[in-house]
Amino acid sequence: MQVSNNVTWVDHPLVQHKLTILRNERTSSKDFRQLVSEIATLMCYEATRDLPLKEVEVKTPVAMARTKVIAGRKLAFVPILRAGLGMVDGMLTLVPGAKIGHIGLYRDPETLKPVEYYCKLPHDMSERDCIVLDPMLATGGSAIDAITQIKKRSPRSIKFMCIIAAPEGLKALTEAHPDVPVYCANIDERLNDHGYIVPGLGDAGDRIFGTL
Ligand code: PRP
Ligand code: URA
Repeated sequence: MQVSNNVTWVDHPLVQHKLTILRNERTSSKDFRQLVSEIATLMCYEATRDLPLKEVEVKTPVAMARTKVIAGRKLAFVPILRAGLGMVDGMLTLVPGAKIGHIGLYRDPETLKPVEYYCKLPHDMSERDCIVLDPMLATGGSAIDAITQIKKRSPRSIKFMCIIAAPEGLKALTEAHPDVPVYCANIDERLNDHGYIVPGLGDAGDRIFGTL
């Protein structure tokens, strides 16, 4: 569902059901990883809805069929480390030929500002449609910085996909990068004093990798 010009809420019942289990503090790391991956697959379906098609002919066992294939667009998925890594396999389930870039950012716990420690992107970004992956959009600082880095490599297009967004982060991201469509599985209530999303799901990276 389109909630504003640039923001799509993926309100599919399967996504919402899996998100509820994800939020539960009693969900194990093993199940959490699996659910993040499954939600990414379902959201990938929505985020690739506008890929252009072209007509081709194919011979079925019965007759020639005029049918469609994706019109030669190349994709790049760019997870923001660490938590974005949890979404990569789910995306590759639907688009196995995509290239993967990596951006390493962590949030300074005092200032909540992102600190970059790694960036490696496919060499041919200018030919690729890019989807940036991070389960959590909190203040928006990490997403804004990652997209700023990626834009320096002039990709054909950029989308941002998260599982939970805070209203504060959504506002900051859509103001900083109004040209970047955002896909989320939910928009939560707010940020708390420590910059955590309420009700959220806690620290996504720690829950994925079991470093709580
Ligand atoms: C988390 C999350 C985002 C960021 C969101 O990462 O995965 O990258 O915080 O917060 P922001 O919108 O306020 O920038 P974190 O910094 O905890 O690093 P990690 O994934 O390595 O645990
Ligand atoms: N990062 C997380 O992993 N969770 C939050 O709630 C906010 C930032």
